[in-house]
Amino acid sequence: DWTADSFVDSTVADLKAKLGNDKVVMALSGGVDSSVAAMLVHRAIGQNLYCIFVDNGLLRKDEFASVLESYRTLGLNIKGVDAKEQFYTALAGLTDPEAKRKAIGKTFIDVFDQEAHLLEDVVWLGQGTIYPDVIESVSVKGPSATIKSHHNVGGLPDFMKLKVVEPLNTLFKDEVRAVGRSLGLPQNILGRHPFPGPGLAIRILGDITPEKVAILQEVDYLFIDGLRRYGLYDQVWQAGAMLLPIQSVGVMGDERTYERVVALRAVTSVDGMTADWAHLPYEFLADISNEIINRVKGVNRVVYDISSKPPATIEWE
Ligand code: XMP
Repeated sequence: DWTADSFVDSTVADLKAKLGNDKVVMALSGGVDSSVAAMLVHRAIGQNLYCIFVDNGLLRKDEFASVLESYRTLGLNIKGVDAKEQFYTALAGLTDPEAKRKAIGKTFIDVFDQEAHLLEDVVWLGQGTIYPDVIESVSVKGPSATIKSHHNVGGLPDFMKLKVVEPLNTLFKDEVRAVGRSLGLPQNILGRHPFPGPGLAIRILGDITPEKVAILQEVDYLFIDGLRRYGLYDQVWQAGAMLLPIQSVGVMGDERTYERVVALRAVTSVDGMTADWAHLPYEFLADISNEIINRVKGVNRVVYDISSKPPATIEWE
């Protein structure tokens, strides 16, 4: 029978045999999959695994520093790369969701490639691909391909000529979490909600500016922190805030305001393919809405998204 412990033992043994004294490079995202994959490879080859964690300027508030710290604590050989400006420059003026995804993907490849070239004699590229990613990337052909252009398989440049090692490509998400627990990963990584690779860029409808990112980071932080405080975080599959490209009228004292609208989105789901909007308690929504409006300058209205997938997607872009 499959157990996480036996999977770890046999996979680490296989990786040792396969990788020997070779060097492996791997991009980490802070997400469950890449973190668990890295820990497996790390257990097999230690400091011969070179991890790279890129700050694309589109992460949650404080996420880059805190995730980097977690990785260091776990003993990973990791380099944090601040590439915020490069991403903001690549995104400047873009409004089309797929154009934004492409710009981010291309910039990520440039940054990763630059970093990988600084390492000598790397033979392998490690990836956190899991079984559902493998299936989807094989089954998706034709017009629906652009819908899936975000999926994280095979997105790296072939001119790097690296061999690929994907220790999780036979596992489902719950098995990946079990393996992560067996490897001693902390709950702040294992229990983390999914977060899209393009990050906040696809939650800011319209063009991206550092100012908009800063506003959305504050709103998102209050929402996610509130979910944790109310004990709701683990009951939802994913949650986040969207910065809408409209302004609405409000009042403050005797003055009329004309400021931004944010939408909160929280869903329940098994695999992200279908999802229901989370029926969060009214007291929670009331509290969070007040907090956001009182604390985030430039936002005067909060709405809650009550659409299910399908037909609505989880993200708004
Ligand atoms: P949708 O919005 O299609 O999202 O219902 C389903 C899941 O996929 C995530 N998602 C992405 N993940 N790059 C990613 O790595 C992307 O471009 C992307 N777009 C959506 C989304 O957050 C949800 O978990």
